This record gives sequence, structure tokens and C-alpha cells, in this order.
Amino acid sequence: MSDIHDAGGVPTTGHVWDDDLGDLTNQPPKWWMLGLTASAIWCVVYFAYYPSFPISNAGSFFKGIGGWTAITEMEADKSVVDEVRGKYEAKLKEMTPAAILADSELTEYVTRSGKVLFGDNCAACHGTNGVGTVDKQGLFAPVLRDDDWLFGGKIDEIYTSITDGRQAVMTAHKDVLSAAEIDTLAAAVAAGTPTATPLFAEKGCVVCHGADGKGMAVMGSANLTDGIWRFDGSVEGITRTITYGVNAGPGARVAVMPSFTAAGKLSDAEMKKLAVYVYKFGGGITEVAAAPAAQ
Ligand code: HEC
Ligand code: HEC
Repeated sequence: MSDIHDAGGVPTTGHVWDDDLGDLTNQPPKWWMLGLTASAIWCVVYFAYYPSFPISNAGSFFKGIGGWTAITEMEADKSVVDEVRGKYEAKLKEMTPAAILADSELTEYVTRSGKVLFGDNCAACHGTNGVGTVDKQGLFAPVLRDDDWLFGGKIDEIYTSITDGRQAVMTAHKDVLSAAEIDTLAAAVAAGTPTATPLFAEKGCVVCHGADGKGMAVMGSANLTDGIWRFDGSVEGITRTITYGVNAGPGARVAVMPSFTAAGKLSDAEMKKLAVYVYKFGGGITEVAAAPAAQ
């Protein structure tokens, strides 16, 4: 058993437990004392400089000798941001979506501010980041991230989809085709080879889907050969599409992209931003030799 009084002559505080455990009266280390003193001084200075102390329940408080308030700081930050934005926003108003896209600095700005706009106005139907949303009929609103477009993926086509809205129409064929003909067509389409049956041309599918079945952007008719399905791509799903059509009355699939010009919710500049933003998802199609050469 060692003696607690043998701790290099340091006296104890007098507290002793279990006969040989005791508190010595050593000073804390110097660095620690300095740190403690410095933080105490820091507290006093901070307390005096910044608004810190409630004076009454009615909300009055000691305002601090520095005159700092969160509002003035926020306003100062905001005026810096507004100045930077104002420059870009003024330019955007004058430019076409294609011209914005040709300017890398503006495109960078637009893709950043487009994120919030897209989240607020488009994501409910098109999904976060344009991955599409699904319902019973397949895709409720189409994927905007891929390069498979109904109405075209050139910047101006995307812009028009947003400003004017889109409502593709495929007529119902329940009164035009026999059940056997619909079966034959559905099987050929499901296999990705719609033109394998002569019915595809004879029954007028080619009028809207093109002689090769690859679709036409002018009317938003889907490409039937790429294995990418807008609606349900099973034989039953395709049978239903052929039978009842799209946006063509009872039983038809419904697909309406609202016109944002008509809705009046977005400014023209905002719709341009969104066109560039959607284009930049990666599926945008470059219009070869059509972009006005900006020297
Ligand atoms: C109410 C749901 C809804 C909202 C909101 C909506 N869309 Fe759409 N959008 C659709 C549907 C449905 C289609 C497909 C229309 C069709 O198939 O005829 C579509 C089509 C499109 C297309 C054409 C796609 C293609 O393949 O050619 C683009 C581009 C587009 N939307 C962008 C947007 C943007 C940008 C916003 C936000 C400003 C937006 N949409 C908001 C439902 C919506
Ligand atoms: C009046 C024009 C028109 C005619 C005629 C037409 N289609 Fe369509 N079809 C469309 C349009 C437009 C769409 C895309 C609708 C949308 O996505 O909003 C479509 C979509 C489809 C789809 C769904 C594709 C997918 O990705 O889910 C199938 C399948 C289809 N058509 C098959 C046919 C067949 C087979 C015929 C001939 C019997 C035919 N269509 C005749 C315009 C037409």
C-alpha cells in the first residue's frame, strides 16, 4: 500500500477514498489556464460587440456596440447576388434559347438556376431530374434525360414543348380494325418490327409513325422500333394503345403536357432557362448546320 502523501510532496485537498486514493492540489497546465482565460475574454468581447442580451419580454434587446444585424448582412449579400444575376437576366431576355446554349457562361448560369424552376414546375410530372413518372398506363410523363424524343430534342423543339404544351393524338382503331388485325399489329410492334406486317402500311399506321415506324416529331408519334416504350410495351399494353388510341376519348391513354405560356406561371426568360436546362440533361440533339454562326 503506497502512501498518498508521497506524491512528490504535493499536498492533497484532504479528500481521500478507500485509504489510498486522493486529490492532489496540482495547478492545471499553463496552456490550459491560458486557453480558459482567453475564452472568457472572447466571451465578454463577443457579448459586447454583437446583439446578445434580452432586455424585455416585448423583444427589446441589447443591440451590441458593433451595430451588426442579420438583416443588414443578408441585404448586403443579396445586393451582390442581384447585381450578378441582373447582368445575366438582362441578357437572357434578349436571346433565343439556341443563342443561350451557344454561350457557355450563360448556360452554366441557367443550368444552375433551372434546377429550382424544374423542381417547382416540372418534377411533379417528369420526376426529379426528368427521370419520368410512372402510372398504370406506363410512363405518365416522358423521360427527359434520354435522347428518345416524341416531339424532338433540338433546343427550339424543347422550348416549344414548354411554351405551347403538347398533346399528341393517336386515333382509336377499335372500329377500324378487326381483333385479329390488332393482334397481328400488336405482336409485330411488340417485337420492334412494326413494318414486318403489311397491315402497318395498309391500315394507315405509316401516316403518323412513318414508313419505317420510327415516329415523326411533328406529331409526337412514338418511335416503335427502338424498344423504348412511352406507355406499356407488353403485347396487352400495345393492344390497348392500338384499340383506344392516345388522347382520343374513352379508354384512350391520356398524355397532356400543359402550355406554360397559357398557364401564365412562368416568364419567357424562365421558359428559355428550362429549355436549356432540359437540353442539358444530356439528351439534347444538336441541329447540324442550323445554329446561326455567331462568328
Ligand atoms: C401535368 C403534368 C406535366 C407538367 C407539369 C409538365 N409536363 Fe412536360 N409533359 C407532360 C406529358 C404528359 C408529356 C407528353 C405529352 C404527350 O405525350 O403528348 C410532356 C412532354 C414534355 C416534353 C416533350 C418530350 C418529348 O419527348 O418530346 C418536354 C420537353 C417537357 N414535357 C418539358 C416539361 C417542362 C420543362 C416542364 C416544366 C416547366 C413540364 N414539362 C411540365 C406532362 C407534364
Ligand atoms: C393519327 C396519328 C396516328 C396513327 C394513325 C397511329 N398512331 Fe400510334 N401513336 C401516335 C402518336 C402521336 C403516339 C404517341 C402518343 C404520345 O406519346 O403521347 C402514338 C403511340 C403509339 C404507340 C405507343 C408507343 C409507346 O412508346 O408506348 C403504339 C404501340 C402505336 N402508336 C401503334 C400504332 C399502330 C400499330 C398504328 C396503326 C394501327 C398506329 N399507332 C396509328 C399517332 C398515331
